This record gives sequence, C-alpha cells and structure tokens, in this order.
Amino acid sequence: MKVREIVRKYEGKRENLLQILHEIQDNDPQNYISKANITVLSEEMRIPLSDITGTASFYSMFSFQPRGKYIIRVCASPPCHIMGAETIFEVISRELQIDKSETTTDGLFTLEETSCLGVCSVAPAVMINDTVYGNLTGEKIKNIIEQIKKKEGK
Ligand code: FES
Repeated sequence: MKVREIVRKYEGKRENLLQILHEIQDNDPQNYISKANITVLSEEMRIPLSDITGTASFYSMFSFQPRGKYIIRVCASPPCHIMGAETIFEVISRELQIDKSETTTDGLFTLEETSCLGVCSVAPAVMINDTVYGNLTGEKIKNIIEQIKKKEGK
C-alpha cells in the first residue's frame, strides 16, 4: 500500500499518526520508514517533517534505516535475562553472523533487543515480526531460523 492510500485509510487524522507510521513501515519491503515516505506523509497530512520524525524517533519500534524482512527481537528484560536470553542472542548472532542492530547481507534478518514482550511466564522469549516464541533454547531458536530460511528458499 502506498503512503497516500494509508493516510486515506486513516482519514488523515493526526491522532492516527502512530498507526499510519506502523503501516508505512510494515508495507516497506525493508521494514523501515524512508525519507521519501516521510516527505509524502508530511505533505499529505500537513504536518511538519520535524514533527513526524520527532514522534517516530520516540518509539524504538520505528526504524529510519533499511532492515531485514524478518526482525528478530530478543527480549532483554530481567525475567528473560535470568532465563538465558543472552545465550539465545548469542546463538542467533552466531547463526546469522550479525550483531545487535545489524542485518544479514541477504537482507533477510535484522537482530534487535527489546524490552519485555509481555510473555514472561515463557521466558526466554523472542519476537520475529509479529510472532512471539517462548520457552526457547539454543536448539529451538536455531530450528525456527532454519524454518524461515527454508521458507525463503535460502
Ligand atoms: S521479560 Fe521477557 S517477556 Fe517479559
């Protein structure tokens, strides 16, 4: 969906800016909010560029840098940390040869850390795009990554 259509869907209302930004990001194959899209958004909604970037940069879920098709967010809050989130992070990092905030060269995965995903009872947890995985072990997360790679023909 193009920026103009997204703005229209939300009737161009300022109170819907966060949802609009979300949809713009989700509709970008590189999972980010480009400068070009912010410019169109600013014109369409008649909101200054600085207001939009100011709002978006307040939230860690928005990115102004191109990212992978799959965003892997490892929960780094205390309950997950205690249950071994660091090991999960290291396994992913080793498997994909990327560190925090980096994207694989094939543009498939970006690795990030996040705060509590709200599923502490199944710590350690990871969210990949909109799906949350809990009770993870190094083996389980490796399998999940393998499944995604297979699905993507990698
Ligand atoms: S601390 Fe990780 S899901 Fe709550």
